Amino acid sequence: MRTLLSAALLFAAACTSTPETTDLDAGQRSSEADAAPPPDSGASTEPPDAGEPPVDGGVYVVPQVSGISTLEDGNPDPNVVEVWIDALPFLGTLYEGRTLPMYGYNQQVPGPILNAKVGDQVIVHFNNALSEETTVHWHGLRISSDMDGSPMIQTPIQTGERFVYSFVVKDSGTFWYHPHVRANEQVEKGLYGMIVVHDPAEPVLPERALMLDDVLVSDAGRVPFLSGHMEVMHGRTGNLLLTNGRPELAKVAVTKGGVERWRIVNTANARTMEISVTGAKWRVVGTDGGRIDPYTTDTLLLPVGQRYDLEVSFDRAGPVQLVSHVLTQNDRGQTEIVPVPVFEADAEDSELTPPEISWPAIQLPERAVDRDVQLEFAAVSDPVTGLRWTINGGSHHMEPLFTFQQGNTVRMKLVNTAGPEHPFHLHGQFFEIVDDGRWFTHQPGLKDVVLVPGLETVEIIAYLDNPGRWMAHCHILEHAEVGMMSEFLVQNP
Ligand code: C2O
Ligand code: CU
Repeated sequence: MRTLLSAALLFAAACTSTPETTDLDAGQRSSEADAAPPPDSGASTEPPDAGEPPVDGGVYVVPQVSGISTLEDGNPDPNVVEVWIDALPFLGTLYEGRTLPMYGYNQQVPGPILNAKVGDQVIVHFNNALSEETTVHWHGLRISSDMDGSPMIQTPIQTGERFVYSFVVKDSGTFWYHPHVRANEQVEKGLYGMIVVHDPAEPVLPERALMLDDVLVSDAGRVPFLSGHMEVMHGRTGNLLLTNGRPELAKVAVTKGGVERWRIVNTANARTMEISVTGAKWRVVGTDGGRIDPYTTDTLLLPVGQRYDLEVSFDRAGPVQLVSHVLTQNDRGQTEIVPVPVFEADAEDSELTPPEISWPAIQLPERAVDRDVQLEFAAVSDPVTGLRWTINGGSHHMEPLFTFQQGNTVRMKLVNTAGPEHPFHLHGQFFEIVDDGRWFTHQPGLKDVVLVPGLETVEIIAYLDNPGRWMAHCHILEHAEVGMMSEFLVQNP
C-alpha cells in the first residue's frame, strides 16, 4: 500500500481503504478491469510471439495497451483515427471520506489512451465542458504548430465550445496529452492522458500503460494552488502518489516466461522520479522520441513530462514491482529515500523462460551543428508572486526568443543559475542530450524534456525540423505559470 510521503501527510494511512462510489471510481473500475491482462497476453503460459504484427485482413491492428481504457476509433479508414474527447469536471474520491473537485478527459483520470499507428491521420473532436477555458497540447508529437494547443497560437477553447484537432502522427512512441492553459491547476486536477503511436515494424508484446503522478492534498482537500513560497520555488510536490490516477497499489497477475512492454509517463506537476523494476529482468527500449537501442540500468531518472518504455521479462516467479524512490521524512524527522512500489505484477510460476526479444536497430541522426545558443534560467523577485522565473531575462516572452531555419541543428547550452532544477521542454521537435552534467547517467535517445539540475549546465543538440512557432518552457508547471515560458520560431524557407 502506498505510504506517507512527508511527515505532514498525517492521513496517509487512510488511502488504504476502498473509496466510495463516484464517477472517478467508475472510471477506475473499468481501468482495473483493463488492468487484468487479456487472455492471450503475457499472462498465458505461451511465451509472447514477438515479431509478427497483428494483421486482420491485411490491415495492421494496433496492439492493446492495458491499464487504462482507450478511445474508440470511430472512423472506418484504417489510416484515420477519429475520436471524441470531452473535458469534464466531476467529484472524485482519492482517499477515504474526502471528495475532491476533479477534471477528467471523458471524466476519467487518466484520460483514455489515444492509440494510433505511425503515419495515421488523427482527428480529435474536443469539447470543453469545464467552467474555464482550456486547450489540448499533444506533448511530444511533431505535428503542425496550429494544432499544438499552444495558447500563444490557438485562442483557448471557451466553456461549452468545441474544437477539432487534426494532425498526422509522424513518429512512433509514447506521448501524452494535457491542457496548456493554467496547466498547473488543470493537470493537477486530472487532465492528462497517454498517446501511443505504434510502429508495425516493432515486435508485438503485451503492453501496459503506467502514468505516474502525485497530488498535494490535506485533511481539508486539495491544497490551494500557488499558495506558498515553496510551490513557486520548487513547484507543487504532492504528498500522495498516484498510478493511473489511483493511490492504491495496483496488482495484476502475470506468468513467468512472459515479456511485456511498460510505457511510463511522469505526469506530476514537479516531482522528478527515480524508478526501477524489482523481481524481473528489465531493459530500457524507448524514451520521449520513440525507440532506442535496448540498454540496462539500475535506476532511471524520470523528470516530469519524460517517458520511458521498458521491456520487462518475467524470468522468475514472484512479485515484480515498479518502484519509485521517494525522498521522505522518517519518524525522527530525518530525510531519507525510501522505495515505494507503484505497480505490481505477480508472476505465477511456470516452466517457461522469457524469449529474447530482438528490436530493430535505431539510427540516430548524425548532423553537423549549424548554430550555438544559450538559455539562462534564473529567478527574479516579483511584487505579486514574490518570485518570477525567467529564460534569458524575460518571462512569458511576447516575441520569439530565437528564430531558426527549418532543418537547423542547434546546440543549446542550458544554464541553470539557481538552486531549483528545471525540466526544460521544447514543443514540436526532438533533441539529444550531449552533456548531461556532472552527476547524471547517460541518457540516450531522442528527447523532448531534459532535466537541468540546480546550478548546472546541460547541453542538448536540437533537430529543428518542424516549422512553426513553438513553446520552450520549464515543465514544472508552476515555474511555467510564473514566467518560465518562451517561444522559438522555426522558419519554413
Ligand atoms: Cu507537456 Cu508545453 O508541455
Ligand atoms: Cu523550472
